[in-house]
Amino acid sequence: MKVKPPLILVAEDDKSVRLVVQQALVRQGYAVQSSGTAAGLWKLIDSDKGDVLITDVALPDGDALDLLPRIQERRPGLPVIVMSARSTLLTAVKAQQVGVFEYLPKPFELRSLIEVTQRAVETIGTPSPSNAKTSSIEEGGPLIGRSRPMQDIFKAMARVVGTDLTVLVTGESGTGKELVARALHDLGSRRAGPFVAINLAAIPHELVEAELFGTGNDDNAGKSNQHCGRFERAEGGTLFLDEVGDMPPEAQTRLLRVLQYGEYFPMGTRQPVKTNIRIIAATNQNLHHLMHQGLFREDLFYRLNVVPVCLPPLRDRVEDIGLLVNHFQLQAAHDGLPSKNFMPEALHALKSWHWPGNVRELENLVKRMLVLHPENSIDATAVEREFPNSQIEAFVEEESLSESVSAHIRRYFEALKGGMPAPGLYSRVLREVEYPLIMATLEVTRGNQVRAADILGVNRNTLRKKIKDLNIKAGR
Ligand SMILES: Nc1ncnc2c1ncn2[C@@H]1O[C@H](COP(=O)(O)OP(=O)(O)OP(=O)(O)O)[C@@H](O)[C@H]1O
Ligand SMILES: [Mg+2]
Repeated sequence: MKVKPPLILVAEDDKSVRLVVQQALVRQGYAVQSSGTAAGLWKLIDSDKGDVLITDVALPDGDALDLLPRIQERRPGLPVIVMSARSTLLTAVKAQQVGVFEYLPKPFELRSLIEVTQRAVETIGTPSPSNAKTSSIEEGGPLIGRSRPMQDIFKAMARVVGTDLTVLVTGESGTGKELVARALHDLGSRRAGPFVAINLAAIPHELVEAELFGTGNDDNAGKSNQHCGRFERAEGGTLFLDEVGDMPPEAQTRLLRVLQYGEYFPMGTRQPVKTNIRIIAATNQNLHHLMHQGLFREDLFYRLNVVPVCLPPLRDRVEDIGLLVNHFQLQAAHDGLPSKNFMPEALHALKSWHWPGNVRELENLVKRMLVLHPENSIDATAVEREFPNSQIEAFVEEESLSESVSAHIRRYFEALKGGMPAPGLYSRVLREVEYPLIMATLEVTRGNQVRAADILGVNRNTLRKKIKDLNIKAGR
């Protein structure tokens, strides 16, 4: 008896894409029926045909994702593969929430499509866990980007929004780590609960534990010295541990305990408190380096890094710059700023800059220009004038900071004549560099810390803490 090949349904309005997909599937030995419209797709579904559905999102007469709940009701267990060129974070999340089998952002390689189809075919007949939680998410996500690296981020985020898995967001300063953390909370199942953020670089080391876990009193003597920690405030929601690389060792040990046992002891108590929160951590430091130096616990790293989300620097996704400029213009218009026209050459100039401060730097540049640029259209020269003085950077490079530091350190070791320096050399040297760097930056910004943080590419709170730690007399 001849076994009938699995029948794959394909819904795609672009005829050439439809053909390419169809031919590739037929070559693999599958039978294929296709349609270019949502109505045609529904007809196929309604006639009980097909073992696997591959569908585009935007069909001329409707959105396939909106049709999915009906498809799933009519044909429970039918594996659905979604392919989309319009991949925003929300399409990825929505696809995941309505329980699609796989989500392929376009353009994809045919090889991936074949591989996914193969996996889908293998599941035919096995009951699928029903996770069809349709939720009404409005269009337009918080994270802007259509580049390949951002689509990978959206996919990773879509996989974890519905879970309580711990996420570690890494990436250079200004790449959107906090935005990712908030989006995971806002789109996830804990969205009705609180989102509590704590910046561990901005809190004096000796206060971190009390700030996180609160203080209690076993003997109930004085309620007055009890203090509610961030863990308690985040109960039922998400706790965002920002700049987690700055966490002091004792606090790391306590945090590890919470992650292991789901409970913690407020400072000064022996009464464990059970907790029900999701943890998202972020850092722009290299935790592997910190582990190497013994500054970050390895076991804690693995507990936090359950799902890594590594944000690309803006220079690796310059194709998103146009979208981002539009987005920040819209935001600015909302805040009452005038709108201006960034000419194509201006966008070109923006794309050739290396963006050490990433999206934050772009956002500030756009908003600054909207306010300060006298004309209505903005050209390349105007944009380039906004880039930090490249002459200064060239000057620094000529002198090579690293060379002069290295010469200095060599002289220092020589002066010890074979002896060893006192322990703590690493932080002493960093301090020596940090101090003049922050001083000089504050000088040029005339004490404006917001501007200085911007130039340095560090968080405002981080700068404030450094100023305090380094004993810098800050002006404004
Ligand atoms: N993909 C994006 N789409 C839109 N806005 C973005 C995006 N990424 C970052 N931004 C904006 O850029 C600014 C910086 O983002 P965010 O604070 O999340 O960065 P960060 O990685 O946490 O930086 P840091 O390490 O300095 O704390 C914010 O105003 C944020 O809204
Ligand atoms: Mg941040």
